Amino acid sequence: MKPGLFISFEGIDGAGKTTHIEALAAALQAQGRTVVRTREPGGTALAEQLRTLALHEKMDSLTEALLMFAARRDHLLQVIEPALARGDAVLCDRFTDATFAYQGAGRGFDRDVLATLERWVQGVASLPAGTLRQPDVTVWFDLDPAVAAQRLTVARTPDKFESQPRAFFARVASGYAQRAAADPQRFLRIAADQPRAQVWREVESGLRARGVLQ
Ligand code: TYD
Repeated sequence: MKPGLFISFEGIDGAGKTTHIEALAAALQAQGRTVVRTREPGGTALAEQLRTLALHEKMDSLTEALLMFAARRDHLLQVIEPALARGDAVLCDRFTDATFAYQGAGRGFDRDVLATLERWVQGVASLPAGTLRQPDVTVWFDLDPAVAAQRLTVARTPDKFESQPRAFFARVASGYAQRAAADPQRFLRIAADQPRAQVWREVESGLRARGVLQ
């Protein structure tokens, strides 16, 4: 049996993750892998309810961070861990880097508290004590917030995050850059300000170089 594979996708709103997640799911299936496509916050009935609250209700940033991690814990235990144990490929639209970028850098919430929550939530029974469940690869769609804002104005009704001012997304973008700098092995940076086909070619070649795609 192949070992499980855990890939997360990150970037500011409007960075264009979705079509590439679909394309990667198809490419992995074509190579014989079973793919589980999921998202955060969400991915279980409980976590989807927490998503609705977190994305649409007003709350302080600690409450928001706790909801994100509560949703993550349920999602990890109910969906991600069982899938990895079966040897599946888990493609997750956002994971903990989003909490550091949005609640940490965007909202200015204490990153030490987030790091503590990360340790609590991502310690799982199948890993040795002190080891955290993290994605094997994080595909990071890096996009100038000004370009992302233009893309979003032609999109649908914004949620609580999408309606934030440009300065918020500039902070979120720098939050991602900091997380990537702290863990360059895990992050695959994609220059997302290019035509879609070119972005996909970068995703494909980056994942080939890491042995994820043949
Ligand atoms: P997004 O992934 O963009 O989904 P959609 O494409 O359906 O809009 O929306 C999720 C939103 O939640 C996004 O604005 C980022 C935010 N978010 C956080 O603030 N913290 C987190 O930990 C996660 C996972 C997401």
